[in-house]
Order: sequence, then structure tokens, then C-alpha cells
Amino acid sequence: MPIDFDDREEIQEEQEERLLARTLTSADDNEGSLRPRVLAEYIGQEKLKDNLNIFIEAAKKRREPLDHVLLYGPPGLGKTTLAGVIANEMGVNIRITSGPAIEKAGDLAALLTNLDDMDILFVDEIHRLNRSVEEVLYPAMEDCALDIILGKGPAARSIRVDLRRFTLIGATTRAGQITAPLRDRFGMVTRLDLYTTEELAKIVTRSAGILKVEIQPDGAREIAARSRGTPRIANRILKRVRDYAQVRADGVITREVADESLKRLDIDGIGLDAVDRRMLEAIVYNFGGGPVGLETLAANIGEESVTIEDVYEPYLMQLGFLARTPRGRCVTDKAYKHLGVKPIDNGQLTMDN
Ligand SMILES: Nc1ncnc2c1ncn2[C@@H]1O[C@H](COP(=O)(O)OP(=O)(O)O)[C@@H](O)[C@H]1O
Ligand SMILES: [Mg+2]
Repeated sequence: MPIDFDDREEIQEEQEERLLARTLTSADDNEGSLRPRVLAEYIGQEKLKDNLNIFIEAAKKRREPLDHVLLYGPPGLGKTTLAGVIANEMGVNIRITSGPAIEKAGDLAALLTNLDDMDILFVDEIHRLNRSVEEVLYPAMEDCALDIILGKGPAARSIRVDLRRFTLIGATTRAGQITAPLRDRFGMVTRLDLYTTEELAKIVTRSAGILKVEIQPDGAREIAARSRGTPRIANRILKRVRDYAQVRADGVITREVADESLKRLDIDGIGLDAVDRRMLEAIVYNFGGGPVGLETLAANIGEESVTIEDVYEPYLMQLGFLARTPRGRCVTDKAYKHLGVKPIDNGQLTMDN
């Protein structure tokens, strides 16, 4: 049975995402989901899918729940989608919650005791669980049990309550913030990688099919190449390009139509938007190319340091535009070239053109 994700969660998630968030309208979410439902529809992440396939088949053969899975990687790469796919492939229910939504240990205990046998509990932003809540998870993950403390002080005693078998799927953008005891209790810890242009072109083509908009192969490629390796961004750009195509170009997305509307969105030929460029330029002009500390940089461009780390940096680093050093962030020669700026010896800069 296909899973219907909570729309509110999706909308909130979309709004938190920075790219094009300013132009996001609620119409974006009324189109029916673009989320793949089964592994065969889930494009890319081939190694992860191979492993999961085996993992899922083995668990099904043994009639056991899947071992706990931790998914990490930048936003928009398909972690939530994959959790739903796993539930569908296993043929079980999924309950969706998030770290900050679980305030007290009792909230988590209630969630866990309400699961049916073999169900999946999906905890998004699992690095934001507070400590006392996290401790409830340890015996739950390890022994399918809850330890409940009754009473206070010297008279306090703990009783153990059995839970039904379940799978925890945790997702996080910050694997480094997961505590070791929690991390160690996952049977599978996997990173999602940025997608290649080819993979994104497939995703765009599939989404265009679902949205019933005609797209030419090099139109899909153009969108893919400028989507920062991220399916969520590719889908969002597709929707904007579709609007433009419908108003200006008989509804067909060609390479020219895609290029023209991406320019209007201020997204350059390799997918950088105004904020990316502002960040690179800040390092170049205000900090002599770096190194500059994350907090200083964040304050300088008026963005959250968390957002810089999770959203901006992964793609800039993959492009080889930005290096993280122990002393801070530095831009590379490649970035100077892209910006059309030449670094010179006395620390001053000249424009290339
Ligand atoms: N592998 C994929 N194949 C096709 N579409 C994908 C894939 N991964 C993500 N998407 C699309 O990107 C959107 C964002 O994915 P999501 O799972 O919400 O990302 P995350 O939870 O990692 O932030 C989804 O709505 C889905 O349409
Ligand atoms: Mg998500």
C-alpha cells in the first residue's frame, strides 16, 4: 500500500529549504506527490539501493523487521522518501516524527508502545533528540524494551516493559552530531551522496511525466546540471520552468526555455544562486580568500552557520570551489575563475574582465 506522507511536514520542509523558497506557493504541493514509492522508482544511490535490496530480502525471508537504519546527508537528497520506500518494500506501516517534536521521554515511550509488530518508526532530524529521550531509545533498539522508572529517590525502581518488534529509521543532515551510543545501535549507517547530472535528468524527466508537462531531453539535462546535485531542487526548478514554458513557450520545456527561466531565477550555469555567489564573494573580498571561520562568515553574509554547513557547502565543496581547513573556509582558484576574479600577491584583487 502506498504511503501518504503528512502534507504539512512536506510543506514545512519545503519552506525551510532555501532555494526558491521565496517564490514557493501552496500550489506547488497540490500536484500529487513526486516521491518515488518503491526502490525501482528511486533513482540513483545505486550502492545504497543494492545493499538495501539484499537487506530487505533477507529480513523478509526471516520474517523479521529490518535492522535499524541511519540515513545521513544534505537536505533534499531523498532520506524521507527512502524511509517511505523501505516501508513499502517491507510491506509495513511507517510512523513519522522528528527529533525536536519529541519533547519528553514519555512522548517517545507512547510512540513506541503504539507501533504494530514490524512497523517502522521514522525519526527525522534525529540529532536533535534530547538526551533523556535518546536514552529511552537504547533498550528499545537493542532489546525491544522500555525501562520505566517508578518512584523517586532510594525507593525508585525500574521495570522493564516489552515492545513489539520495530525498525527505527533515523535521518539527519549532521551525522557528526549523533552520539556514539546511538550511532552504534544502528545496523546500517549510510550516507546519501549528491546526484549526478544524468541521475537528476532522469528524476526531472520522471517528474515531468507525473506533472504531465512535455520536456525535451536537453531541457531535462539543463535543469539537472543546475540543480546542485539535489532532487528536491531539481523538482522545484522544474515546476518554475514549467510555468515559464506554459506562459511563454507553448508548454514545451526545451533547453532554451529551461535556460531562460533559470536565468530569471538567478541560477547560473553551474547551479549557483545569488546566495552562493554572495558567500564566495564575501570570502574573496572581505577575507582575502580565506581562511575565515564559519561563524564570522555566517555573520558577514547574514545566514545561519548551520544553513551554510548543511545547504551551501556540500555543493560548493563538491565543485571544488571551497575548502574546509582547520583554520576556516578558503575559496579555491576554481572559484576565483568562476567569479571572474584574479587573486594577486599583495592580497588585492582585480576583475578579470
Ligand atoms: N532517488 C530519488 N529519485 C527520485 N526522486 C527523488 C529521489 N530522492 C528524492 N527525490 C525527490 O526529492 C524530494 C525531496 O526528497 P526528500 O526525501 O524529502 O529529501 P530529504 O528527506 O533527504 O530532505 C522528494 O519529494 C522526491 O520527489
Ligand atoms: Mg526529509
